[in-house]
Amino acid sequence: MKTNIALIGFMGVGKTSVAKILAKMLGKKLIHLDKIIEHNAGKPISDIFRHEGEIAFRELEIETTRQVAVGNNQVIDCGGGIVLNKINIDRLKERAIVIYLTASPEIIIQRIDTDSTIRPLLAKGKRALSIKEMMEFRQPFYDTAADIKIDTSCLDISATVDIIIDALKEYECFN
Ligand code: S3P
Repeated sequence: MKTNIALIGFMGVGKTSVAKILAKMLGKKLIHLDKIIEHNAGKPISDIFRHEGEIAFRELEIETTRQVAVGNNQVIDCGGGIVLNKINIDRLKERAIVIYLTASPEIIIQRIDTDSTIRPLLAKGKRALSIKEMMEFRQPFYDTAADIKIDTSCLDISATVDIIIDALKEYECFN
């Protein structure tokens, strides 16, 4: 029985804001996966990337996802790179409907610029790939993982939440 909702999508798309409202409206526990990673590691994500590198971060992400995926009645706000390791999605899908939030690169760039979250992969001056290239590379991974896909380019947070709640009506487990 699936009682979890996992929100996936590129950095800055609005997963965290949507997750907060969605969890409240559905009466589910809110889980920010990145916060648990920071708690488990005892340091901020920016330090993990700086001192141990991305591969170490991905290992922590895999372990944390494994822990979280077995819980019930949760709205799980996933980091944007969760789809890069298929094992994460396989584990989440055992108990979660996976919702992919997307938006055009232009809108994502706008949202990232007005958001205070520190994102090592998007640090100005050392972006290995442009946001557009990263989005293109990741898109097939998001598409494959998604049960529900929502383009939020023209939607605010509350409209996005309404659409999610409506889409969940299709699923017996959310009725
Ligand atoms: C990442 C996204 C971040 C965070 C880390 C890596 C990514 O989370 O997990 O910096 O690879 O897309 P948000 O998507 O919440 O910014």
